[in-house]
Amino acid sequence: MGLFSKKENTKKTSTRLVNVKDMMAKAVAGKYAIAHINTNNLEWTTAILEAAQETNSPVIIGVSEGAAKYQNGFKNVFDMVNNSMEYLNITVPVALHLDHGSYEGAKAALEAGFSSVMFDGSAYPIEENLQKTTEIVQLAAKYGASVEAEVGAIGGEEDGVVGEGEKADPNQCKEIASLGVDILAAGIGNIHGIYPKNWKGLDFKVLQAIKNEVPQTGLVLHGGTGIPDAQVKKAISLGVCKVNVNTECQLAFAEATRKYIQEKKDLDTKKKGFDPRKLLKPGKEAIKATVIGKMKLFGSLGKA
Ligand code: 13P
Repeated sequence: MGLFSKKENTKKTSTRLVNVKDMMAKAVAGKYAIAHINTNNLEWTTAILEAAQETNSPVIIGVSEGAAKYQNGFKNVFDMVNNSMEYLNITVPVALHLDHGSYEGAKAALEAGFSSVMFDGSAYPIEENLQKTTEIVQLAAKYGASVEAEVGAIGGEEDGVVGEGEKADPNQCKEIASLGVDILAAGIGNIHGIYPKNWKGLDFKVLQAIKNEVPQTGLVLHGGTGIPDAQVKKAISLGVCKVNVNTECQLAFAEATRKYIQEKKDLDTKKKGFDPRKLLKPGKEAIKATVIGKMKLFGSLGKA
């Protein structure tokens, strides 16, 4: 056995990723939602892949442009996810999805091998959003990738981009869905990050109105952290088939890491508690447990 305990295939492999089309169609038919979990580094990627494989669940690994930059670019993220799938023998469906992509970012992610991209044109006037989304849909088709579009900015802060928490106009949703996007993020009062105490909850009337206009299009719920479980379930029953979660994994990771340090385990030199493989392990396990909890809530456990 060489350098690695597991057999390593070092030759360049083609992609193991799938786009979201098939998993979305099954989720819509089965009235459950696929977990979209943002990755931030190797610990995240491993935790998400292991959670999906161990529970036989499909998963979407999301990466924002900022998180991709932090991980040394789209190509590096693609290689890390794709090679990890091979190394860890991941056989469940996994999509690698650009989260809140800009026009240029979506093109670059497709070029790097991402199997799915979100083009977030919600900040553009609707005509420009429609035109740019059309171009990304055409380009993605050449790569066999899927596309998520957005109408009505999701509130809160995502990678320095602050949205106002608009509610999407159902007619605009219909227009953008007709461009051939695979899934649609539509603001219904949801926001990224931790919800303020006076948050009014999801607007199910708007969600129902949107679903009536776009019955064939899978809807995406962003800002999955902190929405009460009953509201998440109701949103899924009304047509949401993908729920995005990022902050909750970050909080779980930070809490587990803090506990390890507060217990002074990093200071145990005999056990080499300072080794990142030990220091970051509780955080990684906490992410994995969070992801499995989300899959259970969304109904996607065992649906691979
Ligand atoms: P949270 O960080 O609120 O979970 O939202 C994640 C998200 O919507 C990513 O697009």
